[in-house]
Amino acid sequence: MQATHPSSVTYSDTVVRQFALMSVVWGVVGMLVGVVIASQLTWPELNFGIPWLSYGRLRPLHTNAVIFAFGGCALMGTSFHVAQRTCQTRLFAPKLAAFVFWGWQAVIVAAAISLPLGYTSGKEYAELEWPIDILITLVWVAYAIVFFGTIGRRTVRHIYVANWFYGAFIIAVALLHLVNSAEMPAGWMKSYSAYAGVQDAMVQWWYGHNAVGFFLTAGFLGMMYYYIPKQAGRPVYSYRLSIVHFWALIFTYMWAGPHHLHYTALPDWTQSIGMVFSLILLAPSWGGMINGVMTLSGAWHKLRTDPIIRFLIVALSFYGMSTFEGPMMSIKTVNALSHYTDWTVGHVHSGALGWVGFITMGSLYYLIPRLYGRTEMHSVRAIEVHFWVATIGVVLYIAAMWIAGVMQGLMWRSVNPDGTLTYTFVEGVKATFPYYLVRLIGGLLYLSGMLVMAWNVWMTVIAGRSVRTPIPLPVVAAHA
Ligand code: HEM
Ligand code: HEM
Repeated sequence: MQATHPSSVTYSDTVVRQFALMSVVWGVVGMLVGVVIASQLTWPELNFGIPWLSYGRLRPLHTNAVIFAFGGCALMGTSFHVAQRTCQTRLFAPKLAAFVFWGWQAVIVAAAISLPLGYTSGKEYAELEWPIDILITLVWVAYAIVFFGTIGRRTVRHIYVANWFYGAFIIAVALLHLVNSAEMPAGWMKSYSAYAGVQDAMVQWWYGHNAVGFFLTAGFLGMMYYYIPKQAGRPVYSYRLSIVHFWALIFTYMWAGPHHLHYTALPDWTQSIGMVFSLILLAPSWGGMINGVMTLSGAWHKLRTDPIIRFLIVALSFYGMSTFEGPMMSIKTVNALSHYTDWTVGHVHSGALGWVGFITMGSLYYLIPRLYGRTEMHSVRAIEVHFWVATIGVVLYIAAMWIAGVMQGLMWRSVNPDGTLTYTFVEGVKATFPYYLVRLIGGLLYLSGMLVMAWNVWMTVIAGRSVRTPIPLPVVAAHA
């Protein structure tokens, strides 16, 4: 694939800048809602009796805002940045890319209005009603055209591994969205799922788990494979491992969904398949983590001085931790204890805050100054502060949820010699109160870190200028 272009041609970075900034904005909003619902779980009267402030409406607002707005903007922005740099070409169809940006913001705003108003399809992580689903489909198709079009017009032969991960994320999410959102409209903001009973549950958790695997994992691994080598100034530890990692991960994730439905009406053999594939999933996950961490070989000293590298490497540690914990929780006997408890919420946030949050923050700290003609952020000290505040926040959050979860599980299953329950449900709720308080403090710290980041980004942007970076002349060598 050898196209040529004059060296005065520049990358199309406007849309990358827009997505990067909006990721920070939506991060603040989504985490703020997270803190609000954490407060409501501690003191339920904090909904003030107002329906649109009720927990049941704000919880999906939180998950949608952090996953699809904060995470989604970061993924779209970085994928457009990485694809251009590694393919040494401009974005394909920049006008369509602008539609992707504005269309995605419209989806987010529609979610932010419809969810508090109580419109929901009732499917976790796919709550938005059918007109918004159609908009998502249009934006996603446009996104795929821009991304794969850019890969198609590359001026280097090789397709760098980060693009494989971003590409898998785009294709898989399209498939998941189309299958899981199949529904029959019954009014402008009301629909019924095309599936019923246990099939509906299976489709939902095939979707739910692969949303974790492809939205919250594969895309962010794309970020990891580009920004860690860049920030470390080292090539990826093993290119061969990255290929094995890619194929093993995408093959295995697709089968693990039934671990969300242990001990339900789903046929037992299906649950066992989910468990077995979840256990297998440990191997590719750790292969990827090791590949990322080992990229720092020979540059370990940077961990002492460079807070951005710290964000990126600690993200991988949390990735390793949550992908060890997940397979353990998928073992039926372990799940019998963990399911319905706050252990699950602890697991979710070790992945969400530790992995997704940190890898995004590290990547944006690398990217944003470069988009505004600067070599580093306005304040490196502030990145340092953010790192420590966020780390303490995550640790408080997940430790509190682990203890609370195991405690709840043990209390619920405890029986007296005569077969009656040792504890009433409300005793379990009362015993959880201190842990909810600690989680709230952890969440507040994590949010404060994000506010520090927002300030630092603002200062970097106002002192910088939007630069037009020339594309280097085509090279034939493989990109590594
Ligand atoms: C300041 C930071 C955050 C706080 C205080 C927070 C708080 C919460 C709370 C209180 C819940 C409800 C738990 C329950 O139902 O018992 C929740 C759920 C959830 N949050 Fe967060 N969150 C934060 C950041 C994030 C981020 C950055 C992500 C993703 C990238 C995330 C993803 C989720 C998910 C997926 C759930 C649903 C969990 C489940 O159904 O088991 N959160 N969060
Ligand atoms: C090898 C990788 C992983 C496996 C095998 C795995 C397995 C599991 C299991 C068994 C559950 C509990 C299901 C239940 O009892 O209801 C769970 C829940 C969850 N995990 Fe993981 N996990 C993995 C990695 C991750 C990562 C990296 C993230 C986030 C970035 C994540 C996010 C979630 C979420 C959001 C839920 C809660 C779903 C819900 O009930 O709403 N997982 N996972």
